[in-house]
Amino acid sequence: KKYLTTEAFGRTIRYFESCDSTQFIAHELAQEGAQDGTVVVAEEQLTGKGRMARPWDSKAYKGIWMSVITRPHLTPQQAPQMTLVAAVAITRAIEEVTGLTAQIKWPNDLLINQKKITGILTELQADPDLIKSIILGIGINVNQSIEEFPDELTSIATSLKIELGQSVNRAKLIATTLKYLEEYTKLYEAHGFSPIKLLWESYSNTIGRRIRATMVNQTVEGLAIGITEEGMLELKLDDGTIYGVYSGDIEFRK
Ligand code: BTN
Repeated sequence: KKYLTTEAFGRTIRYFESCDSTQFIAHELAQEGAQDGTVVVAEEQLTGKGRMARPWDSKAYKGIWMSVITRPHLTPQQAPQMTLVAAVAITRAIEEVTGLTAQIKWPNDLLINQKKITGILTELQADPDLIKSIILGIGINVNQSIEEFPDELTSIATSLKIELGQSVNRAKLIATTLKYLEEYTKLYEAHGFSPIKLLWESYSNTIGRRIRATMVNQTVEGLAIGITEEGMLELKLDDGTIYGVYSGDIEFRK
């Protein structure tokens, strides 16, 4: 709280030494009517979860494992864009606190030197036409040394400490992340997606690259030409068709 400069985000913080997943706790709190901007943060998660039901390695005292409950004035169709808002906010915060510039790989991986530094998991509580809350799950690898990652992750994950050569103050990074999350959420509510889209594109490593996108029931390949107002990735396929990728995983092609 010493570093906090926000109006709403992080004004209520629920702190845990250890928990299963901050995401589960945030869902419960949201259901009970938690305030906009309530944050759940843990030193360690025993069953941290990533996108697509993957596990998320959440070692004690090494990273930032937090979930932010937001209640933005948006339609459920606009919800995926909150992931992009979060990606831009975290990139800005990392830059301000460490001087390192992460690149955003669509939709929501932050990479430094091609390795993953941050993952974002966006989940919704909504009625068909109304968002009740969006739970932004944010995992930032901060102070792990390379030996502290499980073997299968050492070639694909990194931490701020590894990239910077020194430890990073996690409280400061949390506060700065919340500052930009609040600022960009407001910007999005007031002015729509265009300003966020510009920021996102300036940090992205995806636009202009040849991409293969794997979705639930098909795979497409083409040139990434931009993101749409809805936050979809636009691909230009070889036959010239423009194709919007709504969710899924992408892979860079030669
Ligand atoms: C991904 O890239 O797959 C998303 C990873 C999200 C991890 C964070 S850590 C805090 C929150 N609690 C969880 O269990 N997951 C998210």
